[in-house]
Amino acid sequence: MHDLILLGPPGAGKGTQARWIVEALGIPQISTGDMLRAARKAGTPLGKQADAFMTAGKLVPDEVVVGLVAERLREADCTPGFLLDGFPRTIPQAGALGEELARHGRKIGTVVAIEVDDEALVKRLSGRRTCTACNRIWHLAFDPPPSPDRCACGGALLHRDDDKEETIRNRLRVYHEQTSPLIAYYERQGVLRRVDGSGAPDVVRKRVAEVVGGK
Ligand code: AP5
Repeated sequence: MHDLILLGPPGAGKGTQARWIVEALGIPQISTGDMLRAARKAGTPLGKQADAFMTAGKLVPDEVVVGLVAERLREADCTPGFLLDGFPRTIPQAGALGEELARHGRKIGTVVAIEVDDEALVKRLSGRRTCTACNRIWHLAFDPPPSPDRCACGGALLHRDDDKEETIRNRLRVYHEQTSPLIAYYERQGVLRRVDGSGAPDVVRKRVAEVVGGK
């Protein structure tokens, strides 16, 4: 069973690495950021509740996100395992996750902490473009799309509204204050594996593969 967490600051490459991990291991990617953006786009009550927090680069309240993930983890495709991307992000979220898994006789196998310095993160996020059709993540300089506003699949590319420099810096502050304590939390549980996230995506991929398996 592969019960995995990808932990790391905004722009560390969680979404980029998640794409191949889920294919290699045959498990679903559970990205709270993607789930919240989908809810926001659909205009659901959850999306409306999350909107202002996301635009400001703040965390959505724990009780909202915990409920969303707990429900998702009960779906059948999570039986062989799952890859959590962007969750948990606070100690209370991690506690709630542990309790939810324990109720089903499961526990986290590995937490992969991708480490990248802040200035590199700002460069990565300000050049990111995401496909609105297939969700492929590009970077204008480091992984350029066929054209600045079109994906290889033909879909339109989006510059996320939280990828403006001021909001990026706020997201990094929030990460250091509220999420980075999870590194020590999972280290104490003996499940944390640190991965150097600097260098090209393929180089990082090899380092991640040594930890989670796959290629
Ligand atoms: P979320 O969507 O989770 O955003 P995030 O954690 O800030 O992560 P990102 O998606 O920005 O970065 P990433 O690590 O996936 O990097 P990527 O692979 O795209 O959350 C958004 C918001 O939702 C939050 O601010 C919050 O409001 C809310 N939210 C979500 N989860 C929540 C929770 N649990 N609790 C409360 N609120 C929650 O890569 C970035 C760029 O770099 C790309 O352009 C990519 O091409 C490029 N790149 C990737 N790897 C490399 C590399 N090795 N070298 C060069 N470029 C690279």
